[in-house]
Amino acid sequence: MLLVRSRSEVGLWSEHTRKAGRRIGLVPTMGSLHAGHTSLIDVARRSVDRIALSIFVNPLQFGPAEDYESYPRDLERDLDVAAAAGVDLVFAPPDVEMYPNGEPGVNVVPVGGVDRLCGRSRPGHFTGVLTVVAKLFGIVTPDVAVFGQKDYQQLVLIRRMATDLNFPVDVESGPIVREADGLAMSSRNRHLSATDRKRALRLSATLRSCAQLFAGGHRDPQDFVRELHRAGGAGVSVEYGEVVHPESLAPVDRVEEGAVCAVAAFVGDTRLIDNHVLGTDPGF
Ligand code: PAF
Repeated sequence: MLLVRSRSEVGLWSEHTRKAGRRIGLVPTMGSLHAGHTSLIDVARRSVDRIALSIFVNPLQFGPAEDYESYPRDLERDLDVAAAAGVDLVFAPPDVEMYPNGEPGVNVVPVGGVDRLCGRSRPGHFTGVLTVVAKLFGIVTPDVAVFGQKDYQQLVLIRRMATDLNFPVDVESGPIVREADGLAMSSRNRHLSATDRKRALRLSATLRSCAQLFAGGHRDPQDFVRELHRAGGAGVSVEYGEVVHPESLAPVDRVEEGAVCAVAAFVGDTRLIDNHVLGTDPGF
Protein backbone atom coordinates (compact mmCIF):
# COMPACT_ATOMS: atom_id res chain seq x y z
CA MET A 1 0.00 0.00 0.00
CA LEU A 2 1.29 3.42 -0.96
CA LEU A 3 0.96 6.46 1.28
CA VAL A 4 1.08 9.74 -0.63
CA ARG A 5 0.70 13.34 0.52
CA SER A 6 0.62 15.33 -2.70
CA ARG A 7 -1.92 15.77 -5.48
CA SER A 8 0.75 15.20 -8.11
CA GLU A 9 1.67 11.76 -6.71
CA VAL A 10 -1.99 10.70 -6.76
CA GLY A 11 -2.30 12.01 -10.32
CA LEU A 12 0.67 9.89 -11.44
CA TRP A 13 -0.70 6.81 -9.67
CA SER A 14 -4.13 7.25 -11.29
CA GLU A 15 -2.61 7.79 -14.72
CA HIS A 16 -0.41 4.73 -14.39
CA THR A 17 -3.28 2.63 -13.02
CA ARG A 18 -5.63 3.61 -15.80
CA LYS A 19 -2.97 3.05 -18.51
CA ALA A 20 -2.62 -0.47 -17.13
CA GLY A 21 -6.33 -0.95 -17.82
CA ARG A 22 -7.38 -0.90 -14.16
CA ARG A 23 -10.52 0.73 -12.81
CA ILE A 24 -10.11 3.01 -9.80
CA GLY A 25 -12.35 3.22 -6.75
CA LEU A 26 -12.23 6.08 -4.23
CA VAL A 27 -13.34 5.91 -0.61
CA PRO A 28 -13.16 9.44 0.84
CA THR A 29 -12.84 9.55 4.65
CA MET A 30 -11.80 11.82 7.47
CA GLY A 31 -9.86 8.95 9.05
CA SER A 32 -10.47 7.35 12.42
CA LEU A 33 -11.37 4.30 10.38
CA HIS A 34 -13.87 1.71 11.64
CA ALA A 35 -15.86 -1.19 10.22
CA GLY A 36 -18.22 1.26 8.50
CA HIS A 37 -15.29 2.49 6.39
CA THR A 38 -13.95 -0.97 5.64
CA SER A 39 -17.41 -1.98 4.41
CA LEU A 40 -17.20 0.90 1.90
CA ILE A 41 -13.87 -0.49 0.72
CA ASP A 42 -15.59 -3.87 0.24
CA VAL A 43 -18.35 -2.21 -1.81
CA ALA A 44 -15.72 -0.49 -4.01
CA ARG A 45 -13.83 -3.72 -4.55
CA ARG A 46 -16.87 -5.30 -6.26
CA SER A 47 -16.53 -3.03 -9.27
CA VAL A 48 -12.93 -1.77 -9.41
CA ASP A 49 -9.39 -3.18 -9.54
CA ARG A 50 -7.55 -0.60 -7.43
CA ILE A 51 -8.73 1.33 -4.38
CA ALA A 52 -7.64 4.77 -3.23
CA LEU A 53 -8.68 5.91 0.24
CA SER A 54 -8.38 9.54 1.22
CA ILE A 55 -7.87 10.67 4.80
CA PHE A 56 -8.45 14.37 5.28
CA VAL A 57 -10.21 16.16 8.13
CA ASN A 58 -11.71 18.86 5.98
CA PRO A 59 -11.77 22.19 7.86
CA LEU A 60 -14.22 23.64 5.34
CA GLN A 61 -17.10 21.44 6.52
CA PHE A 62 -16.86 22.31 10.23
CA GLY A 63 -18.67 25.31 11.72
CA PRO A 64 -16.82 27.61 14.15
CA ALA A 65 -18.45 25.96 17.20
CA GLU A 66 -18.00 22.41 15.89
CA ASP A 67 -15.48 19.69 16.70
CA TYR A 68 -12.77 20.27 14.04
CA GLU A 69 -9.97 20.52 16.62
CA SER A 70 -11.11 17.53 18.65
CA TYR A 71 -12.05 15.33 15.67
CA PRO A 72 -10.18 12.05 16.28
CA ARG A 73 -6.95 11.67 14.27
CA ASP A 74 -4.71 8.61 14.29
CA LEU A 75 -2.93 8.14 10.97
CA GLU A 76 -0.72 5.23 12.08
CA ARG A 77 -3.71 3.18 13.16
CA ASP A 78 -5.67 4.18 10.04
CA LEU A 79 -2.84 2.99 7.81
CA ASP A 80 -2.92 -0.44 9.50
CA VAL A 81 -6.71 -0.66 9.02
CA ALA A 82 -6.47 0.44 5.39
CA ALA A 83 -3.66 -2.01 4.60
CA ALA A 84 -5.57 -4.89 6.21
CA ALA A 85 -8.65 -3.95 4.17
CA GLY A 86 -6.69 -4.18 0.91
CA VAL A 87 -6.44 -0.48 0.02
CA ASP A 88 -3.84 0.21 -2.69
CA LEU A 89 -3.20 3.90 -2.08
CA VAL A 90 -3.83 6.21 0.86
CA PHE A 91 -3.95 9.91 0.05
CA ALA A 92 -3.45 11.85 3.30
CA PRO A 93 -2.76 15.45 2.25
CA PRO A 94 -1.82 18.29 4.60
CA ASP A 95 -4.29 21.22 4.58
CA VAL A 96 -2.02 23.29 2.35
CA GLU A 97 -2.13 20.62 -0.37
CA MET A 98 -5.93 20.76 -0.52
CA TYR A 99 -6.29 24.51 0.07
CA PRO A 100 -3.02 26.12 -1.10
CA ASN A 101 -4.49 29.62 -0.75
CA GLY A 102 -6.24 29.02 2.56
CA GLU A 103 -9.91 29.41 1.67
CA PRO A 104 -10.79 28.07 -1.79
CA GLY A 105 -11.61 30.71 -4.39
CA VAL A 106 -14.49 28.60 -5.72
CA ASN A 107 -16.98 26.52 -3.71
CA VAL A 108 -19.56 23.97 -4.76
CA VAL A 109 -22.81 25.21 -3.21
CA PRO A 110 -25.79 22.84 -3.21
CA VAL A 111 -29.06 24.46 -4.23
CA GLY A 112 -31.87 22.13 -3.18
CA GLY A 113 -32.11 19.78 -0.21
CA VAL A 114 -29.60 21.71 1.86
CA ASP A 115 -32.14 23.55 4.00
CA ARG A 116 -33.32 20.24 5.47
CA LEU A 117 -32.17 17.77 8.14
CA CYS A 118 -28.51 18.44 9.09
CA GLY A 119 -28.27 21.39 6.68
CA ARG A 120 -30.56 23.46 8.87
CA SER A 121 -28.28 23.45 11.90
CA ARG A 122 -24.98 23.25 10.03
CA PRO A 123 -24.91 26.21 7.61
CA GLY A 124 -22.09 25.84 5.09
CA HIS A 125 -21.42 22.23 6.06
CA PHE A 126 -22.53 20.71 2.76
CA THR A 127 -20.75 23.40 0.76
CA GLY A 128 -17.59 22.27 2.55
CA VAL A 129 -18.35 18.61 1.86
CA LEU A 130 -19.19 19.08 -1.83
CA THR A 131 -16.18 21.32 -2.41
CA VAL A 132 -13.72 18.82 -0.95
CA VAL A 133 -15.38 15.86 -2.67
CA ALA A 134 -15.30 17.69 -6.01
CA LYS A 135 -11.59 18.34 -5.46
CA LEU A 136 -10.99 14.68 -4.58
CA PHE A 137 -12.83 13.61 -7.74
CA GLY A 138 -10.58 15.96 -9.73
CA ILE A 139 -7.39 14.75 -8.04
CA VAL A 140 -8.03 10.98 -8.00
CA THR A 141 -10.28 10.74 -11.11
CA PRO A 142 -12.02 7.60 -9.80
CA ASP A 143 -14.40 5.45 -11.86
CA VAL A 144 -16.40 4.71 -8.72
CA ALA A 145 -16.65 6.56 -5.38
CA VAL A 146 -18.34 5.06 -2.33
CA PHE A 147 -20.07 6.91 0.53
CA GLY A 148 -21.92 5.61 3.57
CA GLN A 149 -25.69 5.63 3.89
CA LYS A 150 -25.33 6.83 7.47
CA ASP A 151 -24.66 10.33 6.17
CA TYR A 152 -27.82 10.11 4.11
CA GLN A 153 -28.18 13.78 3.19
CA GLN A 154 -24.49 13.93 2.24
CA LEU A 155 -24.95 10.92 -0.04
CA VAL A 156 -27.97 12.48 -1.79
CA LEU A 157 -26.19 15.81 -2.32
CA ILE A 158 -22.99 14.18 -3.61
CA ARG A 159 -25.02 12.09 -6.07
CA ARG A 160 -26.76 15.24 -7.23
CA MET A 161 -23.45 17.07 -7.63
CA ALA A 162 -21.94 14.23 -9.68
CA THR A 163 -24.97 14.21 -11.97
CA ASP A 164 -25.47 17.96 -12.30
CA LEU A 165 -21.78 18.75 -12.78
CA ASN A 166 -21.21 15.73 -15.05
CA PHE A 167 -18.43 14.12 -13.05
CA PRO A 168 -17.54 10.86 -14.85
CA VAL A 169 -17.85 8.82 -11.66
CA ASP A 170 -20.41 6.31 -10.38
CA VAL A 171 -21.43 7.26 -6.86
CA GLU A 172 -22.23 4.14 -4.88
CA SER A 173 -23.34 3.70 -1.30
CA GLY A 174 -22.59 1.29 1.49
CA PRO A 175 -25.15 0.28 4.14
CA ILE A 176 -24.99 1.50 7.72
CA VAL A 177 -22.76 -0.74 9.82
CA ARG A 178 -23.83 -1.15 13.43
CA GLU A 179 -22.38 -2.39 16.67
CA ALA A 180 -23.96 -5.60 17.97
CA ASP A 181 -26.35 -3.56 20.14
CA GLY A 182 -27.54 -1.41 17.22
CA LEU A 183 -25.43 1.76 17.59
CA ALA A 184 -24.47 3.03 14.14
CA MET A 185 -20.69 3.10 13.75
CA SER A 186 -19.23 6.59 13.75
CA SER A 187 -15.84 8.10 14.40
CA ARG A 188 -17.57 10.34 16.94
CA ASN A 189 -18.69 7.35 19.07
CA ARG A 190 -15.27 7.35 20.70
CA HIS A 191 -16.17 10.68 22.35
CA LEU A 192 -19.05 9.00 24.25
CA SER A 193 -18.68 8.29 27.97
CA ALA A 194 -19.90 4.87 29.15
CA THR A 195 -23.21 6.44 30.24
CA ASP A 196 -23.64 8.33 26.98
CA ARG A 197 -22.76 5.20 25.00
CA LYS A 198 -25.83 3.52 26.56
CA ARG A 199 -27.99 6.59 26.02
CA ALA A 200 -26.95 6.73 22.36
CA LEU A 201 -28.78 3.45 21.79
CA ARG A 202 -32.02 5.40 21.94
CA LEU A 203 -31.43 6.59 18.37
CA SER A 204 -31.29 3.13 16.80
CA ALA A 205 -34.08 1.94 19.12
CA THR A 206 -36.49 4.56 17.75
CA LEU A 207 -35.51 3.64 14.18
CA ARG A 208 -36.21 0.00 14.96
CA SER A 209 -39.63 1.03 16.28
CA CYS A 210 -40.25 3.02 13.07
CA ALA A 211 -39.45 -0.11 11.03
CA GLN A 212 -42.00 -1.98 13.15
CA LEU A 213 -44.62 0.75 12.71
CA PHE A 214 -44.15 0.55 8.94
CA ALA A 215 -44.34 -3.26 8.93
CA GLY A 216 -47.52 -2.93 11.03
CA GLY A 217 -49.19 -0.84 8.32
CA HIS A 218 -48.81 2.67 9.79
CA ARG A 219 -48.59 5.33 7.09
CA ASP A 220 -49.17 8.60 8.97
CA PRO A 221 -45.82 10.48 9.21
CA GLN A 222 -46.80 11.91 12.60
CA ASP A 223 -46.68 8.40 14.13
CA PHE A 224 -43.06 8.10 12.98
CA VAL A 225 -42.02 11.63 13.94
CA ARG A 226 -43.46 11.07 17.43
CA GLU A 227 -41.52 7.83 17.72
CA LEU A 228 -38.25 9.44 16.55
CA HIS A 229 -38.58 12.17 19.17
CA ARG A 230 -38.85 9.49 21.85
CA ALA A 231 -35.07 9.21 21.47
CA GLY A 232 -34.89 12.36 23.60
CA GLY A 233 -34.66 12.24 27.37
CA ALA A 234 -32.00 12.42 30.08
CA GLY A 235 -28.72 13.38 28.39
CA VAL A 236 -30.16 13.11 24.87
CA SER A 237 -31.42 16.18 23.07
CA VAL A 238 -33.09 15.49 19.72
CA GLU A 239 -32.23 18.01 17.01
CA TYR A 240 -34.57 16.52 14.41
CA GLY A 241 -36.62 13.40 13.83
CA GLU A 242 -38.25 13.32 10.41
CA VAL A 243 -39.60 11.06 7.69
CA VAL A 244 -38.43 12.35 4.33
CA HIS A 245 -38.59 11.53 0.64
CA PRO A 246 -35.43 9.59 -0.34
CA GLU A 247 -34.38 12.05 -3.04
CA SER A 248 -35.95 15.45 -2.35
CA LEU A 249 -35.45 15.02 1.42
CA ALA A 250 -38.76 16.86 1.89
CA PRO A 251 -41.03 15.63 4.71
CA VAL A 252 -43.59 13.15 3.31
CA ASP A 253 -47.39 13.49 3.61
CA ARG A 254 -47.86 9.73 3.58
CA VAL A 255 -45.21 7.19 4.48
CA GLU A 256 -44.39 4.95 1.50
CA GLU A 257 -41.75 2.28 1.06
CA GLY A 258 -38.34 3.92 0.54
CA ALA A 259 -39.10 6.92 2.77
CA VAL A 260 -36.23 7.69 5.13
CA CYS A 261 -36.60 8.04 8.88
CA ALA A 262 -33.75 10.30 10.00
CA VAL A 263 -32.73 11.40 13.46
CA ALA A 264 -30.02 13.66 14.87
CA ALA A 265 -29.37 14.18 18.56
CA PHE A 266 -26.79 15.46 20.98
CA VAL A 267 -25.82 12.73 23.38
CA GLY A 268 -23.95 14.71 26.01
CA ASP A 269 -21.73 16.95 23.86
CA THR A 270 -21.55 14.54 20.96
CA ARG A 271 -23.81 15.02 17.95
CA LEU A 272 -24.90 11.72 16.41
CA ILE A 273 -27.03 10.97 13.35
CA ASP A 274 -28.74 7.80 12.21
CA ASN A 275 -31.40 6.77 9.69
CA HIS A 276 -33.39 3.89 8.27
CA VAL A 277 -34.90 3.42 4.81
CA LEU A 278 -38.39 2.05 5.41
CA GLY A 279 -39.17 -1.25 3.76
CA THR A 280 -35.55 -2.43 3.90
CA ASP A 281 -34.37 -4.99 6.43
CA PRO A 282 -33.44 -3.06 9.61
CA GLY A 283 -30.99 -5.84 10.47
CA PHE A 284 -30.64 -4.49 14.00
O1 PAF B 1 -18.24 11.52 5.31
C1 PAF B 1 -17.10 12.01 5.51
O2 PAF B 1 -16.25 11.41 6.18
C2 PAF B 1 -16.77 13.37 4.92
O3 PAF B 1 -17.86 14.21 4.93
C3 PAF B 1 -16.16 13.26 3.50
C4 PAF B 1 -17.15 12.69 2.50
C5 PAF B 1 -14.90 12.41 3.54
C6 PAF B 1 -15.78 14.66 3.01
O4 PAF B 1 -14.86 15.27 3.85
